[in-house]
Parts: sequence; C-alpha cells; structure tokens
Amino acid sequence: FSSFEYRDSQLFVESVPLAEIAAKFGTPCYVYSSAAIRTTYQIFDHAFGQRDHLICYAVKANSNLAILNLLARLGSGFDIVSGGELQRVLKAGGDPQKTVFSGVGKTPEEIRAALAANILCFNVESEMELMVLNEIAGQMGKIAPVSLRVNPDVDANTHPYISTGMKENKFGIPAAEAGRIYSLAHQLPHIQVSGLDCHIGSQLTEIAPFIEAADKMLDLLARLQTMGVTIKHLDLGGGLGIRYDRESPPSIEAYIKALCTIAENHPQQLLIEPGRSMVGNAGLLLTRVHYLKHTSHRNFAIVDAAMNDMLRPALYQAYHSILPVTKRTGETKTYQIVGPVCETGDFLGHDRNLALTKNDLLAVMSAGAYGMSMSSNYNTRPRAAEVMVDGSTVHLIRARETVEDLYALEKLPI
Ligand code: LLP
Repeated sequence: FSSFEYRDSQLFVESVPLAEIAAKFGTPCYVYSSAAIRTTYQIFDHAFGQRDHLICYAVKANSNLAILNLLARLGSGFDIVSGGELQRVLKAGGDPQKTVFSGVGKTPEEIRAALAANILCFNVESEMELMVLNEIAGQMGKIAPVSLRVNPDVDANTHPYISTGMKENKFGIPAAEAGRIYSLAHQLPHIQVSGLDCHIGSQLTEIAPFIEAADKMLDLLARLQTMGVTIKHLDLGGGLGIRYDRESPPSIEAYIKALCTIAENHPQQLLIEPGRSMVGNAGLLLTRVHYLKHTSHRNFAIVDAAMNDMLRPALYQAYHSILPVTKRTGETKTYQIVGPVCETGDFLGHDRNLALTKNDLLAVMSAGAYGMSMSSNYNTRPRAAEVMVDGSTVHLIRARETVEDLYALEKLPI
C-alpha cells in the first residue's frame, strides 16, 4: 500500500498531484497522507486481535494537531515527553486516560499538569523522580499511576544516537534496581504501581532485540508478582523501523504478533509507543530546485529545503529517498542535493542520479516522522508549511511561518 504513486510521470499523494500542492502552498512543504496514517493505525490495531491493548502514538515523531486529532479519532492513545506535548494532545482532542508520560527530566510543572489532566501513567525513569512525583501528588491530593521504565540492557543494533536500552544510556532504571524501587513505589502513599515499561531504541530492523527485551520484562514481572506488586499493563515502547532505502524491517503484523506471542500467558494489557512506524512513510518533504551548480568535482542541486527543515541527514547521516515530482527523460547526473544553509552538513541526499533542470520539484520521501518535529529556524528560515491530503481534498494544517513570527518574542534593550 502506498499513498504516493506516479501517474503518467507525475507524483501524486492520494488523488492530488504534488505539483498542484507546490503551486498552491509553495515550497518547502511537508505533505502527509491521511489514508496512509489511517491504514497504518488500523494494521497495528488489528494485529493485536482479541488481545487487550493500547496504542500510544509517540507524539515527538510528528506533533501537528491535525495528525494527533486524526489518531485520537481512530482511538489512539499517546506517549508524551513534555508538558507541551500534553497540551497538544489535549488540544487535539486526545484522551488523557490513554496517555502515558515518558522522559528522564519531567519538571514539577509538567508533573502537576499531567496529574491535573489525570493521565493513564507516568513512565518513571529514576528513584528521585519517583520521590518528587509522590510529593507533588500528595500536595494535590492525588494518587499517581506509575510504571518504572526499566533499562533492559539490550543492544538494539541501531544508530548510537537513537539507541536507548543499553546500560550506558541515560534512560530508564537498571534492571537490577527495579525490584527495590518497585517495592519503594508500592509503599509510597501517593503512588499507585500500575505498569512496567521499557523502550530500547528507534529504527530497529529486527525482531530479536524486542523479544530479548520483552523476555527480560516478563522475568521481572514474575519477580514483582512474588513480591506482591501488581502490574496491570506491560508497555514495550516504540522503535519499529521503517524502510527508507534497502532496510527490510519486520512488518507491523509480524512485530505485534511476536509481542503477543511472547506475552501470551500474561493477562496484562499490552501497550506500545510507535512513532516512526505510524507516520514516517505517510509524509514527504516537497522542495524546489533553485540552482544547479557543476564544479569539476561535483554536481550540486541547491534546493529550497535545508537542514533546518529536515535535520536527519545532517545529524544521523540518514538516507531519505529523493524522487522527482515530474519524471523526465534525458541525461541523468549524480547530484549532491543541498540546502541554502551555511554549513557543509546541510544536505538532504548525496550522490543521487537524477535528470534535473532549474525549478524542478523534488520529494524527500519518508519524512513524516522526525521531520517537521525536529525542524528549527536556523539561518532565520521560517518553518515549512504542512498540508494533509485526504482523497482529493488538501488541508493546510500549518501555515508557513513568517519572519515576523520568528522575531515576535524578541525585544531591544531600551
Ligand atoms: N517511546 C519512547 C520513550 C521514545 O523515546 C521514543 C523515541 C518512542 C517511544 C518512539 O520511537 P519510534 O517508534 O519512533 O522509533 N530523532 C530520531 C529518533 C529519536 C527517537 C526518540 N525516542 C530520528 O530521527 O531517527
């Protein structure tokens, strides 16, 4: 299934030619397919079959209100990592009772807001955080529902910047300390132990590390039961990879089936926190070629999207496929696709064979996750517009920023 297809050499999103979107909304522009998100959510949901489960979409992957609202209407829950993300979820009509709060550095204000909203669970990442949560809940006359995020010390075999479940990472509580901290949590008056949580990394392309982590979680679950600690849900985090290039990650069905099988004899509700796999391949970044520059060493295509719009290539040397919006015949050259930002690291793709002329449109694929959400205003570049296509309808879901927006909060010292 793909929402992005060529028809007569023209790249379409659902029933809309991308060229039409560029003409109407300008470039650079993020374009999402609502059908792609809907279908993916349903594949996740159906794969669980009869198993009690909750899908908590990781908001950080793409936090546009329209996307959160679409997922909320499908019944999705949310994984948040800040008070800002909580506010977005509430604003988008998300259900706080389906929302879990992860992250190593929750501030007292964020904790208060989440308690006030009655979220489903705090994924607590340290003993000190647990104590602070207990104290704040006490002040508010509340009982905080808690999972400990346990670090299972599993090698996710992914890029080191996005691997989170090894003992040298800052995330989670070491498995060896989990028992002690759970019994502490069990005794704290304003804490209600509710679940057990882990998340081992992102863009995993194999099932094995997930299974290894789940195995360790189930061992711990058994130990907790003998200690009299009741665990109602098991949160196995996010991390399923997508295909950017030639990766062959497991299918969503295979991944969910594997998790369900391993937890077969455990009655706990299963939670997952998918981000990238939910929206990554549902979006692209539309950009226009402004200049072609041929040197003795290289051919550069200078486009109007840059590292501030899409940081992944610069930060992780990530590969994103780059497609011409109009397929043309003619001589192809090997291009460096670069942006206007003043950094050598500002590229979207290296060594791409394309036939290009000035003003051509290009689509940077698989940009739905960690694209717009990691964008910045570096070089005083207003952030791109975002549109969502639904069949033949195109909705502007975030207007292009203006330069006035960028300095609106700045003041001269009189
Ligand atoms: N749950 C927790 C606690 C997380 O930290 C993350 C992602 C997720 C769920 C969702 O993981 P996903 O299903 O998307 O793999 N900026 C990087 C990815 C960073 C992921 C951070 N945590 C990138 O562009 O590749």
